[in-house]
Amino acid sequence: MNVEEARALAEKLRAEIAEHNRRYYDNDAPTISDFEYDKLNHSLIDLENEFPEIVTDSSPTLHVGGTVSDKFAPFPHEVPLESLQDVFSHEELFAFGERVKNAIGDGIAFDVEPKIDGLSIALTYENGVFIKGATRGNGRVGEDVTHNLMTIRSLPKTLKNAPERLIVRGEVYMAKDVFEDINNQREILGQQSLANPRNAAAGSLRQLDPKVAEERRLDLIVYNIQYSTNTYKTHTETLDALTEMGFQVVPYKLYSSIEDCVEQIENIGKTRDEYSYEMDGAVIKVNDLSLRTVLGSTSKVPRWAVAYKYPPEEKLTKLIDIAVQVGRTGVLTPKAVFEPVRLAGTTVSYATLHNQDNISALDVRIGDTVRIRKAGEIIPEVVAVEKELRPEGTKPFFLPSVCPECGADVIRDPDGAAVRCTGANCPAQRLRNLVHFASKDAMDIDGLGPSACEKLLNAGFVEDIADFYYLDVQSLQTLPGMKRKSAENLVAAINDSKKRGLGRLLCALGIRQVGTKAAEVIAEHFGTMDSLKCANLFDLTEISDVGEVTAQYIIDWFASPGAEEILGKLEKAGVSFEAETTRVSDAFSGMTFVLTGTLDSMTRDEAGAKINASVSKKTSIVVAGEAAGSKLTKANELGIKVISEEEFISMLQ
Ligand code: IVH
Repeated sequence: MNVEEARALAEKLRAEIAEHNRRYYDNDAPTISDFEYDKLNHSLIDLENEFPEIVTDSSPTLHVGGTVSDKFAPFPHEVPLESLQDVFSHEELFAFGERVKNAIGDGIAFDVEPKIDGLSIALTYENGVFIKGATRGNGRVGEDVTHNLMTIRSLPKTLKNAPERLIVRGEVYMAKDVFEDINNQREILGQQSLANPRNAAAGSLRQLDPKVAEERRLDLIVYNIQYSTNTYKTHTETLDALTEMGFQVVPYKLYSSIEDCVEQIENIGKTRDEYSYEMDGAVIKVNDLSLRTVLGSTSKVPRWAVAYKYPPEEKLTKLIDIAVQVGRTGVLTPKAVFEPVRLAGTTVSYATLHNQDNISALDVRIGDTVRIRKAGEIIPEVVAVEKELRPEGTKPFFLPSVCPECGADVIRDPDGAAVRCTGANCPAQRLRNLVHFASKDAMDIDGLGPSACEKLLNAGFVEDIADFYYLDVQSLQTLPGMKRKSAENLVAAINDSKKRGLGRLLCALGIRQVGTKAAEVIAEHFGTMDSLKCANLFDLTEISDVGEVTAQYIIDWFASPGAEEILGKLEKAGVSFEAETTRVSDAFSGMTFVLTGTLDSMTRDEAGAKINASVSKKTSIVVAGEAAGSKLTKANELGIKVISEEEFISMLQ
């Protein structure tokens, strides 16, 4: 590889890392596992080491990920919260030992601790009283989350024998049993489950309302003194002092060489299940604090510690069955049902097998011993079949040729691996349609989760989505376990959903390929259900986000038997068929504005005009704020009138 190629590859890696940083730190919603993320970072580090000339100031290898959101007050850290260098093999660990030895010589003591998978925070105590706590943020400036930290029981609010001033660093986490408990509760309430304990902890700590954090029963373990008015000689001495002050402290073991640490690292890895918290590695630290100063830090990580990362946990279990489910759009999905195993924080007994092609590629059979892992540490999947453990008499598995729910023929999609039920009245599709309609991204009806929908369907109270709007408190009370108060709440929640607007409603209808985003764009473009209903292929594909296939699905949906009736029932019930807009004075009625860039004097909501998100031929006027981008270019291309913010304000007045 030459320098230019290395530069191009590094750019690609940086963009990928930046995107994953954003998902992980800012949205608390990672899409790859930490292991995969660390490997990505590692590839960039290796590349930059080989070609130092390609390092840029903004390279993530020089900075700790994460940005500071404007939700909380920024909190500048007195002592930066550094990250740790990751190692993935014993060789890399020994190389760390060598580097330490070369810098300071032999006979160095290291301690080994579990690496807790939570959210890093720094706590300030003055005269033994907890004053402030903040997240790591970008390592230099974090977010002040004191109000939420105050709700954590294992965070001592006052300390025993405390130094005059103390800044301590630790990890806020959600214990595995709490996580499971909360998810069980959420399932009963029909709420979406929390993805994993780390995300649950991070999400809870970054709530504005401390009540939420309190309900989430978070915990704290500390592992480093960032600053103290007392002096200590060794790291283990600080950990013991922290224990005496009243903190829950990370367990540690001390060794006189790196080689001796390996056994403990492997030990921790093997016994991960027995800890009350999730861990994603072990941390190895030089114990002597004066040597830490000698070794110092790079711009991002200390040279006196490394994190040994365990590969994603995998477990063997026995495949009891392959269940076939029929999804909302009629797709038959095979699901592996296995003996329950604990994996990355939860007990799992199911994993999707995706489709027939995947089943055939794995050659997975009922009775097999299968290897399970969580993709992105969230979704369980079957990684492999242990063929040598296969019992006698197993048979290859094939999806049925008729729908297991309604007996109608199934057909394979011409454009993919999906197999679909052709039954127009398939009950399984019906239930999924109901559940989808009420779900968070769609009409967001509290209390209408899968089990409530199933009860309503089985009781014959609903057949299609529009029937929700005709439920009454009295009949609901006849359902098992439904008290008057819950029935009233449910009816109120259903009524409340009537005003969600056309975008949500379109998404809720469950038209193929029309998800949240497409639905919003389509709703904004057409404004009303009536004008969308009359749209042809040409009108629909005029929207840049809508391709021909999606457009055809929309047309087919409106033409499908029953659609007319459902729409009629929804309209009669008073469900809004209009896109969410606010109207300006009559002088502007029928005009559509698009705001672009940032406006100085008002927010978009305050602007109060009929405002759409994207520029199309139907846009009347584009208001260009500071740093207006692609929308302005598009407006110019389409020859649409562009005005300034001041002009817009004077028009409003
Ligand atoms: S020591 C500068 N010890 O791991 C060294 N960190 O990947 C300070 N972590 O941001 C960190 N358990 O949030 C240390 N026993 C432990 C830890 C630990 C978890 C986290 C910490 C840090 C991240 C680095």
